[in-house]
Amino acid sequence: MMPNRLEIEYLVSQTANTCGQPSQAEYEELEHCLLQSPRQIPSKYFYDARGSLLFEQICNLPEYYLTCTETEILESSAQVIAQLTGDCQIVELGSGSATKTRILLSAYSRLAGDRPLFYVPIDISDSILISSAKQLCQQYPTLTIHGLVSDYDMALASLPPSPAPRRLICFLGSTLGNFSPQQCDAFFERLALVLAPGDYFLIGIDCHKSTEVLVSAYNDSAQVTAQFNLNILHHLNQRFGTNFVPELFRHQAIYNSILQQIEMYLISQADQTILLPWLRQTLPIKTGEKILTEISRKFSPMDIKQQLQAKGLDLVMSFSDRQNWYSVLLFRRL
Ligand code: TRP
Repeated sequence: MMPNRLEIEYLVSQTANTCGQPSQAEYEELEHCLLQSPRQIPSKYFYDARGSLLFEQICNLPEYYLTCTETEILESSAQVIAQLTGDCQIVELGSGSATKTRILLSAYSRLAGDRPLFYVPIDISDSILISSAKQLCQQYPTLTIHGLVSDYDMALASLPPSPAPRRLICFLGSTLGNFSPQQCDAFFERLALVLAPGDYFLIGIDCHKSTEVLVSAYNDSAQVTAQFNLNILHHLNQRFGTNFVPELFRHQAIYNSILQQIEMYLISQADQTILLPWLRQTLPIKTGEKILTEISRKFSPMDIKQQLQAKGLDLVMSFSDRQNWYSVLLFRRL
């Protein structure tokens, strides 16, 4: 049963139930990516129900410093952020299990007292979105949730109107790093259009640091990241009817110091032929061939400040940990 303060809207086909058919655009996008050199798989396909759970486990790995560092920064800054912005409709891109959101929601609910609190979580995986939204409704009696099962582009194009005086769009977890520079620019452009003057944008970014620290965050000793990476093939099989055998691939994460990004690959361990049933075609993959599944770019806060300034967003305040490994930046739309 959905509490009456909770509404979930689907902007993409239902993911929890596997009979959800991909759209024409999704077929075309996957085909386009698989035919690139190196071959690629869109990273949104990491996040089926199992992938979202594996990602939760990644966030708890000792090597994956990003989550605990961002959490620590939010714990010490949430109160200040809430005071700076005042009452807001809180929109979160890629809310997942909303663990970090609770820190912000708690600060905003202290600020609001008995005034209502509005939260718009956005996630591509409906199972995790629904379960975390239900929990949040129980935990925060003044909270009204309008969740969107969606990718970021579609969600930004159809945000529910804000009953609060302002909007705060949150983009945590250094998900920006998973965008190419072009995608990043297009995203900032769209964001600037969606934000009204006086609205806020809160972003978490992973910063430059030693290669060893970076690589072990994406190549953990318990092999959870490897399972997460390989799970994308299961998801494609489920959704698109492909016949990938995950056991015939190996996970690899490297740091590309020229592009300043982690690159995640699946390396084929055999010569194999993959069925693309919707095209009635096959895809040959050679031994040693690499499929790129994700990039994770590393940033300096100054770069992001400048890029957003060029789109009309001013840096209000920045928060970091003691080692400057990670930054949370608060911007205001001019
Ligand atoms: N936004 C996360 C990051 O760039 C996503 C992520 C973490 C990830 N670990 C991963 C994506 C492993 C793919 C594979 O850190």
